[in-house]
Amino acid sequence: MRIKDKTLLITGGTSGVGRALVDALAPINKAVVVIARDRKKLEELCAEYNNIHPYVCDLQVQTDVQKTVKVILSDHPKLSVVINNAGIQNIPMVHDNAFDFYSITNEIMINLAAPIWISALTIRHLIKSDEQAAYINIASGLAYYPKKQAAVYCATKAGLHNFTTGLRYQLEDTNINVHSVILPIVDTPMTTGRGRDKLSSREAAQQIVRGVQRNRQNIYVGKAKWLPLLLRISPWLVKTILKNA
Ligand SMILES: NC(=O)c1ccc[n+]([C@@H]2O[C@H](COP(=O)([O-])OP(=O)(O)OC[C@H]3O[C@@H](n4cnc5c(N)ncnc54)[C@H](OP(=O)(O)O)[C@@H]3O)[C@@H](O)[C@H]2O)c1
Repeated sequence: MRIKDKTLLITGGTSGVGRALVDALAPINKAVVVIARDRKKLEELCAEYNNIHPYVCDLQVQTDVQKTVKVILSDHPKLSVVINNAGIQNIPMVHDNAFDFYSITNEIMINLAAPIWISALTIRHLIKSDEQAAYINIASGLAYYPKKQAAVYCATKAGLHNFTTGLRYQLEDTNINVHSVILPIVDTPMTTGRGRDKLSSREAAQQIVRGVQRNRQNIYVGKAKWLPLLLRISPWLVKTILKNA
């Protein structure tokens, strides 16, 4: 599917991978609806492109998501592509004091429950669309095996990748493509101060767009391209590499 001349929604489009996706997609699409919390960053985005439609929304808050998506669907009836990109990564170990119930629910809500809920809130709308539609969910190589730190984050990405496959089954024979994006480590504010040989967010965004254009169900980006082969020949190696990622 070509993502061109569409109206699309992207969560977390103000930073990192989301921002690079906006840079790649805003110039060639009719409208880009962006959800984030920071109003100032949303305004900066609007100053750069005249087809950005900003919505301040906290994805941790179920009622906020519900209200915002309702307004978006009414403001943008042509919406046909949803990119569930926003995510956070908490790094305390389970035995650290900072690991509390709020940090668990907060991460699960933003990374997993919100994308599922946004899919549920938009699905009837997308099915009725007279164009080819798509869900693009941003997962991670850590969906396959976790790293030592960020155990909850890895669990949310495994959950999101698995949910995306289930959603694809449910939408077989409809006008909606469902993609899961398997990212390697990307150079964004989320990974500041850690990791080496990070992919640029611009390159990540370009590969995501190419993957959608080529109708790849699972879009493996950068070094993550080796995952399918390595998982076949040596799952142990993948597990060991990711454990200390
Ligand atoms: N960077 C990597 O190495 C990497 C690797 C694999 C997968 N990923 C995934 O790629 C996606 C993007 O990551 P990134 O590295 O680009 O992150 P980032 O630079 O930290 O950007 C996160 C975006 O999500 C938004 N966001 C965070 N919490 C939110 C909330 N409660 N409500 C609404 N919006 C919220 C942020 O905007 P506000 O703060 O204004 O809300 C921001 O726009 C995430 O799903 C991440 O898990 C990243």
